[in-house]
Amino acid sequence: MSDQTGNFAGKVILITGGTGNIGLATASRLAGMGAAIALLDLDEGRLAEACKGLGTQDTLAKGYVCNVTSVEDVHKTINAIISDFGKIDFLFNNAGYQGSFAPLHTYPEDDFARVMQINVCGAFNVMKAVSEHMVSRRFGRIVNTASMAGVQGPPNMAAYAASKFAIVGLTQTASKDLAPYNIRVNAISPAFMGPGFMWDRQVELQASAGSQYFSTDPEEVSRQMINSVPMRRYGDINEIPGVVAFLLGEDSSYMTGVNLPIAGGIL
Ligand SMILES: NC(=O)c1ccc[n+]([C@@H]2O[C@H](COP(=O)([O-])OP(=O)(O)OC[C@H]3O[C@@H](n4cnc5c(N)ncnc54)[C@H](O)[C@@H]3O)[C@@H](O)[C@H]2O)c1
Repeated sequence: MSDQTGNFAGKVILITGGTGNIGLATASRLAGMGAAIALLDLDEGRLAEACKGLGTQDTLAKGYVCNVTSVEDVHKTINAIISDFGKIDFLFNNAGYQGSFAPLHTYPEDDFARVMQINVCGAFNVMKAVSEHMVSRRFGRIVNTASMAGVQGPPNMAAYAASKFAIVGLTQTASKDLAPYNIRVNAISPAFMGPGFMWDRQVELQASAGSQYFSTDPEEVSRQMINSVPMRRYGDINEIPGVVAFLLGEDSSYMTGVNLPIAGGIL
């Protein structure tokens, strides 16, 4: 079977947030499995660089500048991808923004709206546009990036937690709405991935938010976070792509609507 995990020759995948840490690591893994990759993100230069790193003789990679918060932009981009590649088999719906860190009573309203726009409306816009195409083909596999913040609301992250709970709900509803069309929709929920942008930012911002839950010293916050993980370490970005590949491929053929934690034992 060509789309068992490990062999995606002939498959086309769209990855949003494609030049970010998780998006690019996943693109690289799936390109190695033979998939053709459409990377969607905000910055043209970063897209060009990412595609250069992905393109080999056997795989095709192309970048698309698109802001997922714009319905018009998303539709234009999906049409361009279908025109360039002929189809979209898989969607890794992964673009996201973490937002501010502040207790609820001081959380900035404009940032709350921004996080919801990117993480919820953006994910919906892409999933809706791609699923129209997938319904017409009676085939599709979608993986949404949620977060453990969408399973347990962490302190100081009202917008992010709300947005990722929404992704879990969206995944469950979409899995039911799209099941009759041979489209499976699942989610992953990473936590404490690092080192790198999100990890460093989260440690520093939790320290500066000054709550009873974390120290004001970033190094101590880092220890506190690791101590909350049963496996007592943070996750590596490269521990994500294999799980995405599993959910996209036919090794997970009877799974839809699930949210898989990638979180060292946090449930
Ligand atoms: N890194 C972690 O610890 C972690 C944990 C749980 C969940 N996540 C989620 O994983 C996903 C990827 O995160 P990451 O760690 O790779 O972060 P990242 O910042 O490296 O990547 C996010 C990417 O999304 C893109 N993006 C943001 N807004 C966009 C928009 N409006 N339109 C198009 N693209 C946009 C960014 O340009 C960036 O390339 C996010 O949804 C994030 O919430 C990350």
